[in-house]
Amino acid sequence: MTSILEIESFGFRYANAPRNAVADFSLEVTEGSILVLAGPSGCGKSTLLRAVNGLIPHMYNGDYSGDVKVAGRSVKGSEMRELAQTVGFLFQNPENQIFMFSVERDVAFGLENLGVPHDEIRSRVDEAMELLGIASLAKRAPHELSDGQKQRVALAGVLAMRPKLVILDEPTSLLDPRTAKELVELVARLRKELGTTFLIVEHRLELLVEVADKMVVMSGGRKVLDGSPQEVLMGDLAEGYGVAVPAVTKLQKMLAGDGLVRGDRMMTGTELAKTISQAGH
Ligand SMILES: Nc1ncnc2c1ncn2[C@@H]1O[C@H](COP(=O)(O)OP(=O)(O)O)[C@@H](O)[C@H]1O
Ligand SMILES: [Mg+2]
Repeated sequence: MTSILEIESFGFRYANAPRNAVADFSLEVTEGSILVLAGPSGCGKSTLLRAVNGLIPHMYNGDYSGDVKVAGRSVKGSEMRELAQTVGFLFQNPENQIFMFSVERDVAFGLENLGVPHDEIRSRVDEAMELLGIASLAKRAPHELSDGQKQRVALAGVLAMRPKLVILDEPTSLLDPRTAKELVELVARLRKELGTTFLIVEHRLELLVEVADKMVVMSGGRKVLDGSPQEVLMGDLAEGYGVAVPAVTKLQKMLAGDGLVRGDRMMTGTELAKTISQAGH
């Protein structure tokens, strides 16, 4: 299995900050996987993402240590323009990524910046809009759209660049539960159809447990837990690090502690409900 991302003892202290935002952080991410990064506010998640998309060190000053490689190339030694073709970044608020007069021009924006030939832009934009189910909105003004639709427009713009790695920083924070679920389903589908790797910072873990391959928890700038969602969430340490363990998982652990349900494999809400109702008879 090929690694798309290799982080080796990465550390970063912002200029003028008293201490490192991230310290001694190592991680390898397999191409085509979905990784969720969790941890309390201020633990260094966004800083880590910036080190992957190149904003660190290219836009933020500070002390940089270790190395970050995307598709085998050092981020530090690459130009932002070059990185933009490998790493796509979806901002938390799509307003920051949407600015043109129509949906299709917005989706085309990144490609135009790269000087991609016109015909190629046309076909990639159509493809991305199709993929995200927004083709019918092509001529609409982005500001007329719902938050979920804006999110899709921003993501279409990212995907039109055909990045191998897509970074989502708290992508569902502005979405209602149903739209958030749709976004997660979309991520799972894109991984399957395009083989895209996703690195996602998210608090609503219950949305992601079924699609994530790996979960990493940070605390105080360091990696403290790293494993499958099951290993991390069924383990005893996650809650202590401020991870929002899904209610279903907490309930399962409680019942498993009393020997009422199995504790070796994480269950979905439906599975758990079924087991409980069967146990009642
Ligand atoms: N631009 C910046 N300049 C100085 N310090 C920063 C900057 N951005 C974040 N920090 C600090 O770095 C630490 C990690 O922040 P951040 O990476 O944003 O965490 P998270 O995304 O997990 O909330 C925090 O102490 C935060 O105050
Ligand atoms: Mg953040």
